[in-house]
Amino acid sequence: MLNSCKNEEDKDEILIGFSQSINHDIWRKSMEHSMEIEAALHPNVKLKIYNANRKSKKQIKDIERFIEEKVDAIIVSPFESDSIIPVIEKANAKGIPVIVVDRKVNTSNYMAYIGADNVEVGRIAGRHIVSLSKGKAKVIEVRGAYYTSPGLERSLGFKEIVEQYSGIKVVRLDAYKDELPKEAFLKALTENPDVDYVFAYNDVIAYQAYLVVKSKKLEKKIKIIGVDGINGPYGGIQLVKDGILKATVLYPTGGSEAVKLALKVINKEIVPKKNNLNTVLIDSLNAEIMSNQFDKITIQQSDIEEQQHIIKNQEEKYASQSNLLKLLIVLFVIVFGLAIYSIYSRITISRKKNELEEKNKKIVIQRNEIKQFAKELKKSNEARLLFFTGLSHEFKTPLTLILSSVESLKNEFRNKGIAVNTEINLMYNNSRRLLRLINQLLDYRKIEDKKFVLKASKTNILDFSKSIVCDFEKEAKRKLIDFTLTSNNPDLEVYIDRNLMDKVYFNLLSNAFKFTPESGKIAVAINEDKIHNVVRISFKDSGIGIPENEIEEVFKAFYQGSNNYRSNSSGIGLHLSKNFIDLHKGKVEINSKNGTEFIISLPLGKEHLDAKSIIEDQVLDLIYQSDYLDSDIQVSEPMINEDKYSIFYIEDNVDLLDFITN
Ligand code: FRU
Repeated sequence: MLNSCKNEEDKDEILIGFSQSINHDIWRKSMEHSMEIEAALHPNVKLKIYNANRKSKKQIKDIERFIEEKVDAIIVSPFESDSIIPVIEKANAKGIPVIVVDRKVNTSNYMAYIGADNVEVGRIAGRHIVSLSKGKAKVIEVRGAYYTSPGLERSLGFKEIVEQYSGIKVVRLDAYKDELPKEAFLKALTENPDVDYVFAYNDVIAYQAYLVVKSKKLEKKIKIIGVDGINGPYGGIQLVKDGILKATVLYPTGGSEAVKLALKVINKEIVPKKNNLNTVLIDSLNAEIMSNQFDKITIQQSDIEEQQHIIKNQEEKYASQSNLLKLLIVLFVIVFGLAIYSIYSRITISRKKNELEEKNKKIVIQRNEIKQFAKELKKSNEARLLFFTGLSHEFKTPLTLILSSVESLKNEFRNKGIAVNTEINLMYNNSRRLLRLINQLLDYRKIEDKKFVLKASKTNILDFSKSIVCDFEKEAKRKLIDFTLTSNNPDLEVYIDRNLMDKVYFNLLSNAFKFTPESGKIAVAINEDKIHNVVRISFKDSGIGIPENEIEEVFKAFYQGSNNYRSNSSGIGLHLSKNFIDLHKGKVEINSKNGTEFIISLPLGKEHLDAKSIIEDQVLDLIYQSDYLDSDIQVSEPMINEDKYSIFYIEDNVDLLDFITN
């Protein structure tokens, strides 16, 4: 937006270039001043001034620059009349209008000329001397440079008049760089003591001549006439008023007129090629009036300047305020945009939120449904499990009865020497296996329900191990297996739940015997690690081992090893063992290189255990032996000693009660 406004202003801007030839004297300064005032009256006009400082080459370059800068018009006050012709023609050819002011150029390829008639200026001076002297006088004429039109023309006009009078004699001197040729002037004065008048090319030279005349005390005798008639201190009018000059011929600078003309040309108005400025003689009679007139003009000009200054200030203020306003508008637009965006975002967000909430509601409903479903599933599962657990429980009693009866039969047959051992053993082993499986199932349930409560008691681990290991010795002998039990500390005592650890031992040893071929090796090693305050019990066999990728799996419930071809296992033995070891805050690792090694680590002492889970002494459960073992265990006769113990036994199965009573 700001940019577009700026472009609008740029489009209307008019650039006028002014090539000044000389700038050190008051006439030139007044010329530039009037130009600036005129330009300032038009806010869209920019005046650019280059000064050639009396150098034609510099002036040519300056005009070239204006051409390059593509100014809208060039005003030229030529220094010389000939040397700048090509560059003026060039600008003209490029379509840039050239306004020539003051001095002339010897070409007609420019737009317009403006200036006073210098021949007439010379004539006015000549006529004045004629009139004052009544046609009889001696005059020193100090001429301007012949290569400038004013220098040439003023002298021509003067000559034209005075030549008409034989009584007027003229001594001619040439000024150099607008300065009085002092030596020549003094010489002329000396050689011509009858000089009455001096006609100087301009007021500056006229004043210099006055100073010389005065120094010769001839100021009363010799009357000096100058040209330019600038108002103000040291200007020609003041010099006349002060009686220093007899008269001056007004030579207007044409500054403001040149700008006006340029603007007309730029606005495509048709202008005359030659624009004459009026000239007039200023002497003691009209100097006052003229000066008053000029003063008024000067006051008006300074008023205008002041007004312009105020306007400029206002404009600057306006510009800054308008920029501020634009900035505010831009900010407002941004803020407004942001506000709209934020409203839009809020709407979208709230819509999305609603959608999400809706989805959430659905999800919650679904989740509740799933929960409900899971609850029901759990319930029905529980019911089923409860049913199976109950059923398993129900199996236990008849099985115990069968097992006990088979045992009795076995003893009876043995006593009577009847050889039906194979069938009896078959019945006995399978009943026991069934009982073990049911026990495992019940243990699994207990583990799942986290119902196991550890009952740890201080146990000599070597003795405990021996008591279990010995049950496998017969089998070791049968299979010619090198079966060993070692310990690095026979007195080592560990807090264990003997019933649980017993199951762990049986499970690990049963597996070892199951998978170790004949003449193989099974070693149970107890190692106390004092540094880590643990005991490590290793069960190492030389069996088929466990494939590397299955090691992680073996402790999962119902896992069946890929190389477990002889499997008649439930797949929960190792799972239970691991859980029992966990209950002891121990851990179990497996190595499977050249057979399998299970290493149980149990912390020593009892600090790691809950005080509640520590008991004083513990009795092993009745039956928990490996179904693997070929059993012909001697069951000792019940010791009935009526005097010693009475046992309070609660049992809902009448058969079992009878059996126990027997
Ligand atoms: C100033 C001046 C004036 C004269 C004019 C002519 O530089 O010499 O005195 O009138 O130039 O070009």
